[in-house]
Amino acid sequence: MSSRTSATDYVEDVSPGSGALPPRAWYPRSDAASLSLNGRWRFRLSPAADAEDDAFAEPGYDAGGWAEVSVPGHWVLQGHGSPIYTNHLYPFPVDPPHVPTENPTGDHLRFFDLPEGWDVTDGGAVLRFDGVESCARVWLNGTDIGEFKGSRLPHEFAVGHLLKPARNVLAVRVHQWSAGSYLEDQDQWWLPGIFRDVTLLHRPVGGVLDFFVHASYDHAAGTGTGTLRIDSDVAGRVTVPGLGIDIATGESATVPVEPWTAETPTLYDGLLATEGERVPLRIGFRTVESTGGLIKVNGKAVLFKGVNRHEWHPEHGRALDLETMRADVLLMKRHNVNAVRTSHYPPHPAFLDLCDEYGLWVIDECDLETHGFTEQAWRDNPVDDDRWTPALLDRAARMVERDKNHPSVVIWSLGNEAGTGRGLTAMAEWIHGRDASRLVHYEGDIDCRDTDVYSRMYPEHAEVERIGRGLDGGTRKRRALPLILCEYAHAMGNGPGGLADYQRIFESHDRLQGGFVWEWIDHGIEDERFGYAYGGDFGEELHDGNFVCDGLVFPDRRPSPGLLEYKKVIEPVGIGIDGDGTTVRVTNKQDFADLSALAFAWSYQVDGETVGSGSLAVPALAAGESAELKLPEPPATDGGETQWTVRALLAADTAWAPKGHVVAWGQSAPRARRAPALVATGGPVASGEGLIVLGPAVFDARTGTPRSIGSVEVTGLRLDVWRATTDNDDGAAWQSDPRYAELWRGFGLHRMRHRLGAVEQAGDALTVRTRVAPAGRELGLATVYRWTSDGDRLGLTVSVTPDGDWTVPLPRLGIRFGLPAADRVRWFGGGPEEAYPDTKSASLVSRWESTVDELQIPYVRPQENGARADVRWAELGGLRIDGDPEFWLTARRWTTEQLDAAAHRTDLTPSGTVWVNLDHAQHGIGSASCGPGVLPRYRLHAEPAEFSFVFTDIG
Ligand code: GAL
Repeated sequence: MSSRTSATDYVEDVSPGSGALPPRAWYPRSDAASLSLNGRWRFRLSPAADAEDDAFAEPGYDAGGWAEVSVPGHWVLQGHGSPIYTNHLYPFPVDPPHVPTENPTGDHLRFFDLPEGWDVTDGGAVLRFDGVESCARVWLNGTDIGEFKGSRLPHEFAVGHLLKPARNVLAVRVHQWSAGSYLEDQDQWWLPGIFRDVTLLHRPVGGVLDFFVHASYDHAAGTGTGTLRIDSDVAGRVTVPGLGIDIATGESATVPVEPWTAETPTLYDGLLATEGERVPLRIGFRTVESTGGLIKVNGKAVLFKGVNRHEWHPEHGRALDLETMRADVLLMKRHNVNAVRTSHYPPHPAFLDLCDEYGLWVIDECDLETHGFTEQAWRDNPVDDDRWTPALLDRAARMVERDKNHPSVVIWSLGNEAGTGRGLTAMAEWIHGRDASRLVHYEGDIDCRDTDVYSRMYPEHAEVERIGRGLDGGTRKRRALPLILCEYAHAMGNGPGGLADYQRIFESHDRLQGGFVWEWIDHGIEDERFGYAYGGDFGEELHDGNFVCDGLVFPDRRPSPGLLEYKKVIEPVGIGIDGDGTTVRVTNKQDFADLSALAFAWSYQVDGETVGSGSLAVPALAAGESAELKLPEPPATDGGETQWTVRALLAADTAWAPKGHVVAWGQSAPRARRAPALVATGGPVASGEGLIVLGPAVFDARTGTPRSIGSVEVTGLRLDVWRATTDNDDGAAWQSDPRYAELWRGFGLHRMRHRLGAVEQAGDALTVRTRVAPAGRELGLATVYRWTSDGDRLGLTVSVTPDGDWTVPLPRLGIRFGLPAADRVRWFGGGPEEAYPDTKSASLVSRWESTVDELQIPYVRPQENGARADVRWAELGGLRIDGDPEFWLTARRWTTEQLDAAAHRTDLTPSGTVWVNLDHAQHGIGSASCGPGVLPRYRLHAEPAEFSFVFTDIG
């Protein structure tokens, strides 16, 4: 039997492609001409790789009837076909290197003239593709110039000999699936298309080819010197005017310099000039090494406070413009993030320029993941099959050669979740040989055979602590290496919980060099049906739902409370105010910079209101230093709860935030809190129409529930233990930690029944006895509501006594009720954003004001959200509520049951009622959507509890 061969065999060929030039350094500009070929292209979609012949590539072909798409872009986000989301499963049969016959194929056509003055007879030209998913074949003016795979890697072709002054025809055939798809099984949308720039570069005679900027820093040499050497394929001169450097390529110069670090990203402007081209350079001097079991830059150990960044835009997918990339960098810097892992592929190269400029440590990761092979115990994994090794080495080289001149890149990563194998070892060997000035990372190499750093994802806190103490065992090599968490703290939905607990552990052990939160942004797709679409919304055969929405920022880049929590937890300055508010201890937690860029301000609050403020003189402490400073005399007050707040602010505008931007803060423990006191007078009085009157309130005499408090109507007030389960409550199926949502639903906590035992009018109180319990179980919560009044105000004390065998924690414990109207909300307590027991670091105690709508946190998949912590009192809908002790406040225009049932934000429609929860306690959040669950100290055990509120009609 003969095997079928055809003009599309390259699609299933494991080789990286043919016809492309060797990879080389990327640079954003030079004095050589270039022509962007971005813009509108003619487009035709066909259902299979060979459904159409290649006649379209011929000059003169009439594409008049074709559609158009934007390049860069993904055709599935431009009305042609649909995106597919899978986490690790291949969305096609695992039959490497074969791909389905149904292989959406997009033919693209672009016509262009050369700009005036572009001499086609001089030198040459290169056509560069910065990213095409997943396989492309290219023709220029009817000539086939090659084909390539490696979606997020650059490919260049020599095309000078094919160019004409006008009416050039560039034809690109893009296949959604190819052998390359087996190497690109990252947890993300499958999005075919030419999604990064296409550029025609003039290559003058004597122009620059590849060059390698070696710019090291010697911290030991007294004042600190930098050594610069640029190796260039084409000889030339290197000048750095600011440093007085003027040397030939290949020569080195050593001069005093300011080093580059993520905290102090000093770049020197330079120029590489060959006979035919001048390339501007931005040079950062720094030395990365792994010595003494630590990752050191310029001789100092660094602590990574990082994020994993996928490229994402809610309309354009992975086609990002420069402003979107800059928005990411600015947001990161403003939230104290100091490091990025480019999960799981090299980003658009301009992003790395921004990291150099603004200062972020980068782990640059190769475009390689074969996660789906885990389903067959990694059998036939391409990374352990020599036939695929050339493709792996090609990917490694395309990353390293493109990005090697960025000071921000300190670690190369071989890829993600690709198992283990000879191909990975070959990549590591090649990278080590090509660039000894950086470290190599790969999380899958659990013994660190090929890598220079021990890396893990999603370990429990206790395990991280063990590794910090060196009690983890492992190979001899691994035991001598530092640990980073390349992924931790899964930011899916509400959460992640437990960040502060991780950070405390990182900061306690040198061996722990920090981590990278998973992940930066929710990959929601803007969609009028749903607000933001996620997996399954396009009818995918296989999908992983909203697991693709697990970022610290929402799809529109609005920071989620998780990012604010992270910002607080990783703040570069520690501010600790002693118990009696006389001194503050300031610690510079940075690795390099002193505190001279910061100004400090104190303020003093009485009952949440600032009554005094001023600046605080803090010396320019060096990295790692602390100082104890005296606070001023507190302003005189006549009672009330008092508290100090000290903030560290930018003293001047920086490139990433204006003067006054708060980078860190600390608050003292509050003193002399005033609990609401209500002295009961009078008592409940029965009124004729089945009602009971108690002070300002009217109750239903039969049920004992309040109908109104003063002028405010109140509905359905009762004990509540349910919350719309979060992604972390739901948990990941593979987790060993309990999946609380399942347990809770199993017990029936989402359908508790309230049996009325007694409504007692005795003395000054109306006492209502109930038992709250789920069907089918003997356990329950004996709940007593004791209502009193002083004539004007209404007091409620709730006592809860669990009975039965409560083996699960409660989601929440408090009361809920409906108000007919509420808009503005004022409160004294934690804010401005949401907080839960293990996500509470960023909750600042103050007076806050918001609206019911603004209290909602727009998680892409609706779930419990929006609680404000430590609330002393709140005002909404004409009621003032004082709590004893402090309570958690939640208010929304739908019930918890509606929230629980919603799959998208668009499923939630405001009802006429505002549902208010006043919680005595909440269960923590954890990060079990992919990682450890709620730490024991944040679990809400069913235990006897008592809590009180005082209601005042302020309408
Ligand atoms: C990791 C993986 C990421 C992502 C994450 C869960 O295992 O490396 O790509 O899938 O889990 O969101």
